[in-house]
Amino acid sequence: MQQFDTIKSQFEEELGKLNSLQDLENLRIKYLGKKGVLKKLLEGISQISKIERKEFGQNINALKKHIETSLKDYKLNFSKEKSFFDITIPGTRIKRGSLHMVTLAINEIIEIFKPLGFIRMSYPEVEWEYFAFDALNMPKDHPARDDFEQFFVKFQPNPEMGKMILSPHTSSGQIREMRRVKKPPIRMINVAKCYRPNWDTTHTPMFHQFEGLCIDKGINITNLKGTINYFVKSFFGPTRKIRLRPYHFQFTEPSFEFDISCNVCGGTGKIENNGHTEKCKVCKSGWLELGGAGMVHPNVLRAGGIDPELYSGWAFGIGIERIFMMKEGLSLDDIRVLYSSNIKFLKQF
Ligand code: PHE
Repeated sequence: MQQFDTIKSQFEEELGKLNSLQDLENLRIKYLGKKGVLKKLLEGISQISKIERKEFGQNINALKKHIETSLKDYKLNFSKEKSFFDITIPGTRIKRGSLHMVTLAINEIIEIFKPLGFIRMSYPEVEWEYFAFDALNMPKDHPARDDFEQFFVKFQPNPEMGKMILSPHTSSGQIREMRRVKKPPIRMINVAKCYRPNWDTTHTPMFHQFEGLCIDKGINITNLKGTINYFVKSFFGPTRKIRLRPYHFQFTEPSFEFDISCNVCGGTGKIENNGHTEKCKVCKSGWLELGGAGMVHPNVLRAGGIDPELYSGWAFGIGIERIFMMKEGLSLDDIRVLYSSNIKFLKQF
């Protein structure tokens, strides 16, 4: 009976010295194989007295079971450890992402306005009609609302706030900012996604705008023009010029659209080609449209809780995808590529 203990401890010792799965297999053959240790033991059963045979047989079975489970457990742990611990196999490089160009442009815009004391705000993309239109001096039936065809959100309409929509512009943040600050000065840059149901080569249903809002005592159009000029020179380069053109928005009076001088023709609208003068193909007139702006309408100031007799202010709104493309000199056949998740395209920025 002592043999069993000896064999068991010998097996255990050898098991502890294993180095590979091949060693493990050899050990299995040594103990459980056709000519293995256990087989030999079994062959000796004939020399054992009949009384002891039963116990002998049971002991062999128990030993066999023990060896089998030990080998199995060892194999399991061995595979786990080895696959985890092989430090010589070269690692898999994790693919690094990068910021989307719209995010890069937003970061740059925010940095440009920071020294002027403008703070960045983000206002809801899912917005009440009241903030997007009514408070901006656009009554329910005003045709100007058609310019911003809307995405309606299934939500209980509110008698005062109207329906819920996906905000079509960042101007809705004007009222929210006035109500938050309560007492001017206000200097805000509101960056947000905007939504309009357009889908073609020059429009995506989701795009980005940033809205500048400045309200204080004695604010006038020269401040507006100076600020846009500063932004344009910082973002596009010191040689670029701006101009304001009269326009109409319900929420500003007077209102403007503003343009930037074209960098292809230097603002002349003409280019020299082999000795003769041609119209610039990029701008046709020397100017490219950049955004909308104006002096905040007194009704809008009132809706924001600010006294138009004491304070005045200006606002502008600029499309981010558009100015990013202008800056990079990108003329994309299809602007939708910006949001197509096409890695080959995105990697270039
Ligand atoms: N909200 C206007 C638009 O999306 C732009 C604008 C902003 C105009 C602020 C005037 C003042 O077209």
